[in-house]
Amino acid sequence: MTREARLDYFPWKDEYSVGIFEIDSQHRTLIAILNRLYSELWEDKAQESLDAAIEELIEYTKTHFAFEEALMEKYGYPGLPAHQAIHAKLTREVGEFRNSIDQGRLANPLDALPFLKDWLTLHILKQDKEYASLIADLIE
Ligand SMILES: [Fe+2]
Repeated sequence: MTREARLDYFPWKDEYSVGIFEIDSQHRTLIAILNRLYSELWEDKAQESLDAAIEELIEYTKTHFAFEEALMEKYGYPGLPAHQAIHAKLTREVGEFRNSIDQGRLANPLDALPFLKDWLTLHILKQDKEYASLIADLIE
């Protein structure tokens, strides 16, 4: 299969939208990192690509989580402490996943994809909808 013909591993869907343009755009960036990894894993530098993608996801989520928390604070979202705890848990989970890769517990780099997809799906589809629906109404 050519690179051009390959479909995204994790295609963006309208239902992922949380109704705030900047948040959607950051979520699309997270998904794009995963799709690029999927594409690269078919090429030679599998382990290298996986390490780089996880690093990039960890770095970008730091920025993204800080942005979300600042937004929640700005609009006085009462669930901020609970959402900070969710962010801490998500950060811990991906950190532990990186450790397991570092320790060679992943037989095939492709095995990382389902974990990362679920990790992002939970964050975007479930956990961000609640705060975003409240804040989107205030922004409008
Ligand atoms: Fe988010």
